[in-house]
Amino acid sequence: MNIYDVYSFYPVAPIRGQGAYVYDGQDQKYLDFYGGHAVISIGHSHPHYVKMISEQVQQIGFYSNSIKNPLQLELADKLEKAAGISGYDIFFINSGAEANDNALKLASFHNGRTKVIALQNSFHGRTSAAINVTHTGKKHQAPINHGLTPTYLHFQDTETIITEIHKGDAAAIIIEAIQGVGGLDDISAEALIAIRTACDDTDTIMILDEVQCGYGRSGTFFAFQVADIEPDIITTAKGMGNGFPIGSVLIKSDKIKPAKGRLGTTYGGNHLACAAGIAVLDVIKKEQLIENSQCIGAKLSEILAKMPGVKKVKGRGLMIGAEFEFPVAAMRKSMVLDHFLFTGSSSNSNLLRILPPLNINENHLDEFESKLSAGIQNHISQ
Ligand SMILES: Cc1ncc(COP(=O)(O)O)c(C=O)c1O
Repeated sequence: MNIYDVYSFYPVAPIRGQGAYVYDGQDQKYLDFYGGHAVISIGHSHPHYVKMISEQVQQIGFYSNSIKNPLQLELADKLEKAAGISGYDIFFINSGAEANDNALKLASFHNGRTKVIALQNSFHGRTSAAINVTHTGKKHQAPINHGLTPTYLHFQDTETIITEIHKGDAAAIIIEAIQGVGGLDDISAEALIAIRTACDDTDTIMILDEVQCGYGRSGTFFAFQVADIEPDIITTAKGMGNGFPIGSVLIKSDKIKPAKGRLGTTYGGNHLACAAGIAVLDVIKKEQLIENSQCIGAKLSEILAKMPGVKKVKGRGLMIGAEFEFPVAAMRKSMVLDHFLFTGSSSNSNLLRILPPLNINENHLDEFESKLSAGIQNHISQ
């Protein structure tokens, strides 16, 4: 049987990973500054993570949500403390798109509306509601997905966003505080505060999609935390499980009240997923990875700003985009195949997306710098 042909991929097959590296069958070592689309938060096969998951699967790996699972409460408590948030309930799910689908559904249940305000260049996933509010994925929307009425606005055009919210007919506004796939643009703290007020005035649900920029990646636990606001809903996935499929919807339950049966999932919040999620938060705390993301991320940005061909450095912490004067696809490919360095792309063809594990150190930065500068020289001299 063939694998259904929907992915473009490099001719590389990693068979093991450790920290910031993956290795292929010939034991070739690759520096991973992409983490498989921002997923690897605490490094590949972190010993604490491996131990927690291995021990858990020996006890019980799965049972559905029709029983009590104390691991869910442990993970919820740890997440609340790590993020410094309060007043949220948690709904566990398996992926980012599902988290956003459920978030949009809750917004619509809450105020009965169907319109959604999203930002230009947004990416929120490929399930039905999520793809419908994904500006970068318009060509991936099937006719059956066209259930919502999205209005896409520019992230810097706060005035138009506020005017649109004040029409009072949107179920929600959904925002990535730092855009991932869209190319690392971030919305200002002032805009987030103004949007919060406009949402309060009109009973519009404010959803922050922290699937990629959350979990310490940007140097704060959630990227929106540059502003002193509380979204009505926050969605998470990716870094939450370091590769184990887990996501969550954090819901202000005093405003958006739960009702039995309204949401549901077979796998979400299962024992193994929770063990993975707890291990990630343990490591983020013990290794002070949010602080590391801030401090190493600042150094990474400095390195990038000095590289030949780099026009602009975007993003924060370890969620960084380097915008070049030329399209980067060929250079990225050669960096994988010739220099053994993984980086990512975005909808901006000139932008290299750099998303290393949150526990990289200066040695990794030195190695990255020499691989990247070799890759750039190579590209420029061709
Ligand atoms: C901001 C954001 N939201 C949602 C998603 C969808 O997540 P998943 O691929 O886990 O469904 C992504 C994936 O790249 C993302 O970057």
